[in-house]
Amino acid sequence: MYQTLLTAFENGIFTITINRPDKLNALNKQLFTDLDAAVDEINITASIKAAIITGAGPKAFVAGADITEFNGLNKDEAMALAKRGQDVFFKIENSKKPIIAAVNGFALGGGCELAMACHFRLCSENAKFGQPEVNLGLIPGYGGTQRLTQLVGKGKSMELQMTAHLIDAAEALQLGLVNHVTTADSLLLRTGEILNVIMSKAPVAISKIIECVNIAVVSDSSFTNGKNGYDKEVLAFGDCFATDDMKEGTAAFLEKRKANFTGK
Ligand code: COA
Repeated sequence: MYQTLLTAFENGIFTITINRPDKLNALNKQLFTDLDAAVDEINITASIKAAIITGAGPKAFVAGADITEFNGLNKDEAMALAKRGQDVFFKIENSKKPIIAAVNGFALGGGCELAMACHFRLCSENAKFGQPEVNLGLIPGYGGTQRLTQLVGKGKSMELQMTAHLIDAAEALQLGLVNHVTTADSLLLRTGEILNVIMSKAPVAISKIIECVNIAVVSDSSFTNGKNGYDKEVLAFGDCFATDDMKEGTAAFLEKRKANFTGK
């Protein structure tokens, strides 16, 4: 049913595995179509009580948006791409049933943004998190400027986005980006154990917790500002696509060389 996802269902838990391991599970258009449908499946299927999102292979959860799809996009197309990503991630964030990220390796760019859109996160000891878009002459476009700030605070969010520095599992735990760190082998087991506790509670109450907590973080600096932050991100992501530096940054990644930015 899904081209880019593997799914499994056991004891009320629906596990979604992002499945493009040869591309480190980079998020392409098809993946957004599949994820969008999978979140619908979670919410319309009565037997599904909760979900886990993880990545295929030992190396990556998701290493970002698929950079090959950035090639040749104009500003409007780039804004549409960001809006599409934001909308699918809003759907995850506002799911009535819990969706937990089990981060099993690189969670970079859109991968970190996907993990942050989930209700909370566990990771394996080899996980690495970051928003390295600035290396490409870009900014996060799938809600990262907003959710990273909500989760780790303004100063650290600024630093991580401006430096493109990757953090390891221990630092992610210390910053509150993840709730627990496990061995790679026990990641899904531990995530399932936590979901079993959640699934023993009243489902309506759980869905109300999701609704209320989401309002609390968005309204942190007033509800309107929060929403404007996401809109501003789409616009600013599009603005970056109109620069030479973005073309240079993405070309450099694809040609496996260092980018030479000029400020134009
Ligand atoms: N988009 C498209 N392809 C990607 C990708 C992405 N975000 N991330 C990795 N890949 C591809 C690589 O191009 C490579 O493909 P190839 O084998 O056809 O050349 C394959 O996945 C393996 O990645 P590689 O870079 O060879 O692995 P590595 O272990 O040397 O490095 C990373 C791992 C995660 C550090 C590196 O892949 C990386 O920096 N990825 C991009 C991260 C990023 O900038 N994300 C934000 C995007 S907005």
